[in-house]
Amino acid sequence: MGFTRRAAVAVVGVAALLTATACGSSDDSNGGGSGSKKVEVFTWWADGGEKAGLDGLVAQFGKDCAGQEFVNGAVAGGAGANAKNVLASRLQQSDPPDTFQAHAGAELKDYINAGQIEDISADYDTWGLKSAFPQGLIDNLTVGGKIYSVPANIHRANVVWTNKKVLSDAGITSDPTDMAGFIADLDKVKAKGIKTPLAVGKDWTMLMLLESVLITDLGADKFTGLWNGSTDWNGADVTKGINDFKTLLTYTNTDRDALDWTDAEKLVMDGKAAYQLMGDWEAADLDAKGFKDYGWFTFPGNGQTFQWLADSFVLPKGAKNVDGTKCWLKTVGSADGQKAFNTKKGSIPARTDAAPADYPKYQQAAMADWKTFKQAPSCAHGSACSQGFQGAANSALGAFSTNQDVAGLQKAMATAASQFAK
Ligand code: GAL
Repeated sequence: MGFTRRAAVAVVGVAALLTATACGSSDDSNGGGSGSKKVEVFTWWADGGEKAGLDGLVAQFGKDCAGQEFVNGAVAGGAGANAKNVLASRLQQSDPPDTFQAHAGAELKDYINAGQIEDISADYDTWGLKSAFPQGLIDNLTVGGKIYSVPANIHRANVVWTNKKVLSDAGITSDPTDMAGFIADLDKVKAKGIKTPLAVGKDWTMLMLLESVLITDLGADKFTGLWNGSTDWNGADVTKGINDFKTLLTYTNTDRDALDWTDAEKLVMDGKAAYQLMGDWEAADLDAKGFKDYGWFTFPGNGQTFQWLADSFVLPKGAKNVDGTKCWLKTVGSADGQKAFNTKKGSIPARTDAAPADYPKYQQAAMADWKTFKQAPSCAHGSACSQGFQGAANSALGAFSTNQDVAGLQKAMATAASQFAK
């Protein structure tokens, strides 16, 4: 059920109000009205590595935007499961935050098509951003010749995180490179008494796992076509992918529908599971939680495919503090802002001028891979599909978790594609 505005206020109510400078703000106490110096930043980064990344960005904002105040509008819940509902109702009620997090690609187009966010192309010129980001990303951000958001990062979705001790106890010394090898390793872990070697959580986390399996079974290009309408969801290769996914689910925790990604991550940290497929925000979260004994590999069979997504920030129509928000956006796109954020977030900078040596080990590897791997987008994180398509996919995965109906899932995805793919 939708997360209500009242619940959102409760969440926001406990969120910190951080003052960017020692100076007081000049606006009214509730942050509204013209002349506001408060910048309400709406995200779902409320804890762990996600919060650490946001805190880094806020610290940089404090340096860059003297006199402005950061107001934390975070609504907890992985992948924006709660935040997106709250945001939708606020936008509908013409009560936008000053800025919000939106994924580059199809998800961003939803907001553009609904007329909810402003064209900031002129600011791109002023801030020198067109040459700071790779052309492919600029293309993904551009709609009708205009740019509407500033990307903070590039995340990779198709990564398996491991508990190294659990693997070494099971005698596993190398990473699997195909599905058969992965299943053989899952069996080895199981033989050591770990009943559910692969941790997974609710709907969107299962969608991520399915997407990775489909990249393996279809290849990156055909996989990408599933979301833009050029690949048929009714194909035999998709049936095989869903069957492979079903097999993988037999190795997962049965309480998956009740778990967020961090709950599934805890199963890996606690040695109750060996593996979890998750985006590379997990690297930052494991670091933030002090868990050091982890490894990672690209999902078996994905080869050199980098399944990407990018968090970006927008200027909503009707934002109360346009100047302050523009200063936030400028910080997000700046070299210092991207470093402050991404060194803590597990992602790599969207800018091309970052120094890998400034980053933790995982991100150094991701930066190198980003340059050479083939790119594929993510539906679970909005680069591949609209929010309507994503919602339908999440529901279909939630149903499949219970009914295990391969034909039913395939049909539900084909129906969603016929409505939303473009
Ligand atoms: C993604 C987002 C990431 C991370 C993740 C888990 O949608 O792009 O930055 O926050 O959700 O919550």
